[in-house]
Amino acid sequence: MNQSTGTARNTLATVRAVLDEKRDMPGALLPILHDIQDQLGYVPSEAVADIAEALNLSRAEVHGVITYYHHFRTEAPKGAVVQVCRAEACQSCGSEALWEHASKKTAGQAVTLESVYCLGLCATAPSLSINDQPYARVSHAKFDKLLAQLQSCQKEAA
Ligand code: FES
Repeated sequence: MNQSTGTARNTLATVRAVLDEKRDMPGALLPILHDIQDQLGYVPSEAVADIAEALNLSRAEVHGVITYYHHFRTEAPKGAVVQVCRAEACQSCGSEALWEHASKKTAGQAVTLESVYCLGLCATAPSLSINDQPYARVSHAKFDKLLAQLQSCQKEAA
């Protein structure tokens, strides 16, 4: 078994385990999608048919929900996931400039940069999260410091 075959089997096994656990709960689609993304980092396109069949939905319905919500990824993230909040409260405190700054600083890095629309830290905007760890009042200098810490951790882990 080559590595990609093994990975595909693990992915399928993860999806099936989530479906077995949650398929009978009311409104199961969103909890299932969240669980799959929490475990795999994304919702693979190969999972759509299994999810649709388990919930008696069409593939188009499942695909429509996945693509409607910004939260769901359809590809595996590259490296750390940095999510910059671009909703109103953060926008009014400079999140667009922070987004531009983060885009330049993470270009070519092992980082997946994403927009999110509220992290629940509106009173301490602008906010972002790094691998689900939230940070508030993020200035450009604070971002640079967080990125340097992240890169240091990535080097240690390599
Ligand atoms: S608007 Fe950014 S955390 Fe709520």
